Amino acid sequence: MEIKSLMKTTSILTFLLVSVIAILAGCADKKVGYSTDPEINEKVEALLAKMTLEEKVGQMNQYNGFYDATGPAPSEGDAKNKLDHLKKGWVGSVLNVRGAEATRELQRIVVEESRLGIPLIFGLDVIHGHKTLTPIPLAEAASWDLAAIEKSARNAAIEATAVGQNWTFAPMVDISRDARWGRVMEGAGEDPYLGSLIGAARVKGFQGDDLAASNTMAACAKHFAGYGFSESGRDYNTVDVGTSTLYNIILPPFKAVVDADVKTVMNSFNTLNGIPATGNAFLQRDILKGAWGFKGFVISDWGSGQQMIPHGYASDLEQVAEMAANAGSDMDMESYSYVKYLVKLVESGKVKEAVVDDAVRRILTVKYELGLFDDPYKYCSEEREKDLLYHPDHQKDALDIAKKSIVLLKNEGHILPLDRNKKVVVIGALAEDKTSPLGSWRIGSDDSTAVSVLEGLDLFGAKYAYAEGAKLVTGPVAFNSELVFNTTDRSGFSKAVALAKSAGTVVMVLGEHGLQTGEGRSRTELGLPGLQQELLENVYAVNKNIVLVLMNGRPLTLTWADEHIPAILETWHLGSQSGNAIAQTLYGANNPSGKLPMSFPRRVGQCPIYYNHMNTGRPGPNTDVFWSHYMDVANTPLYPFGYGLSYSDFDYSGLKVDASDPKAVKVSVTVKNTSDTDGEEVTQLYIRDRFASVARPVKELKGFEKYKLKAGESKTVSFILTDKELGFYDNDGRFVVEPGMFDVMVGTSSDKGLTGEFELM
Ligand code: BGC
Repeated sequence: MEIKSLMKTTSILTFLLVSVIAILAGCADKKVGYSTDPEINEKVEALLAKMTLEEKVGQMNQYNGFYDATGPAPSEGDAKNKLDHLKKGWVGSVLNVRGAEATRELQRIVVEESRLGIPLIFGLDVIHGHKTLTPIPLAEAASWDLAAIEKSARNAAIEATAVGQNWTFAPMVDISRDARWGRVMEGAGEDPYLGSLIGAARVKGFQGDDLAASNTMAACAKHFAGYGFSESGRDYNTVDVGTSTLYNIILPPFKAVVDADVKTVMNSFNTLNGIPATGNAFLQRDILKGAWGFKGFVISDWGSGQQMIPHGYASDLEQVAEMAANAGSDMDMESYSYVKYLVKLVESGKVKEAVVDDAVRRILTVKYELGLFDDPYKYCSEEREKDLLYHPDHQKDALDIAKKSIVLLKNEGHILPLDRNKKVVVIGALAEDKTSPLGSWRIGSDDSTAVSVLEGLDLFGAKYAYAEGAKLVTGPVAFNSELVFNTTDRSGFSKAVALAKSAGTVVMVLGEHGLQTGEGRSRTELGLPGLQQELLENVYAVNKNIVLVLMNGRPLTLTWADEHIPAILETWHLGSQSGNAIAQTLYGANNPSGKLPMSFPRRVGQCPIYYNHMNTGRPGPNTDVFWSHYMDVANTPLYPFGYGLSYSDFDYSGLKVDASDPKAVKVSVTVKNTSDTDGEEVTQLYIRDRFASVARPVKELKGFEKYKLKAGESKTVSFILTDKELGFYDNDGRFVVEPGMFDVMVGTSSDKGLTGEFELM
């Protein structure tokens, strides 16, 4: 009882302390400001002093592109209204306006025709490339190659900034454990340690070393917070997570990108403990701007302010504006709540002008840091647009990371790599698809610009015969509408089966359509959609020598394929260079080195499934039924987090653990490439804190190294574990390091490695 009440008092004190810090940090001291450059802070204050309340609120308002700025100006309706707002200085940002000419014209209107001429910041979802598309973020995460991931974001920024964009709504750092959720394609998977490093690498890539350079852009970490835990994987659904999961799984990647100086953060559609993220002061003021000292600004997600009404939190749009502004949401994307009501709310005292000033100060600081006040048109260059889009260097880098993102899931009897001199039969509609491999977020790019698998094989000089087998989708394909899958037309089966019958090896290219993942694309089945599984089984009936090439944006359930098909290559949606990367991997010009960033379930009923789960009180296995298990399938995933094979074989030996210095526990292992093929391995280190004041997961990734090993070569891989790796957040959000016994595992995936233990004194 006493302990309980002591804990309660401690929690209240912690909360009060955090709140005081939050209030102080949330309304920054005017003299300090948000930039590390005092000159910028002075300029921000000077400008703020000149602004009317309407103009300040205007900076907090973002509109979606509302007219074709290269055509005639609208003379009536909503678009005319918005244009008027632009001229009055009531718009701080627009999104989805593309092209140097269009952004230049809108910028010109604001700069020349509004009273203070404060430049716009142009936002766009530059998620995995701009024109040149790189692998979807989940695929890039499979590379475990932080330098390549940074480079990919860098190139995306170079292309996007050439067409007027200076702000991307990326990286998405939502951790997710549920493959049913379509947006897993946009994140780095299920692990907060890997997700934190990748998030920071992406921020660095977009923002570069100098935000004021004309080829760098502000990044935006999203969606703050908890969106990846949408219940049952259904997009926009309720989020209900415990404190420990919030602090240890969901928040760390956001903290990491704040530490990496991300300039903006987007809040999320979901509620957290019944409070929509957009109106959530605990998340935005106490944690983000308070405890973490975030100095950039927060943008709402699309209409997430207005959505507080159907959530049952705000009763009308005026209350939306009040709640969102007071909770720390600085800019309103497409809810129209600030532009309509914020002036009135300040005048009535429901929102303090200091709250508005704080938001505007943050927004102006980013605009100054981007250099927009020095040259508002620096990002709108028709010349750079011509030179840079689809630039050969970017294509080269896109190919490099595409190759690194491929994961070899199975290779029984070393069926791969294939022999270029032997003809194969290729089957599957996705093999000739030039759009699906571009993935879900390809807003800035053009359809049919990916190198298809067939084109990749041609370029590689491979000999093949092709049969489509079955169409994947029927009817029109559009970003905003549901796909219709082919579930009836089997007319192509007979040709495919006939070709397969006489083939040595069959390469089947199957998987998800590019628009089957992403926002609003949740699934309850995770098998091969349409007639593809049936096609696979029909082909298998006549020829078992199949290489299954998967194209998909999320983990799939591949239990049948794993039981029957000798070789499986996970190629995701790899972007512009997809076909080249796949062909080079099939024929051994690229040795696969990717490792899964998300567990692949055996059956969809296991979702959410993740490697860093808790042990439960009845972990089993027992001989009776009373332990935590399923009656019909193993608890384990089919392919676990961190898993991925290579054409090389790696042997692990000699694990050494030295905990004599508790501030620097040393762990090392020897890895040998025992094959006759040069390859690349990702050595992973996992720990388990056996007993703690808050129970810890059975395994947690705390280090990894990716490196090349020539045939026969060995290497010692070393790690040092410090407080940062050994501690965790308690239920009051405090980072603690507790002495006691730890298990350590070093190996090739989350389920395979050498194990040891140490005591932290
Ligand atoms: C998505 C965001 C995206 C925004 C702007 C929303 O629907 O959730 O991730 O950045 O739209 O396009």
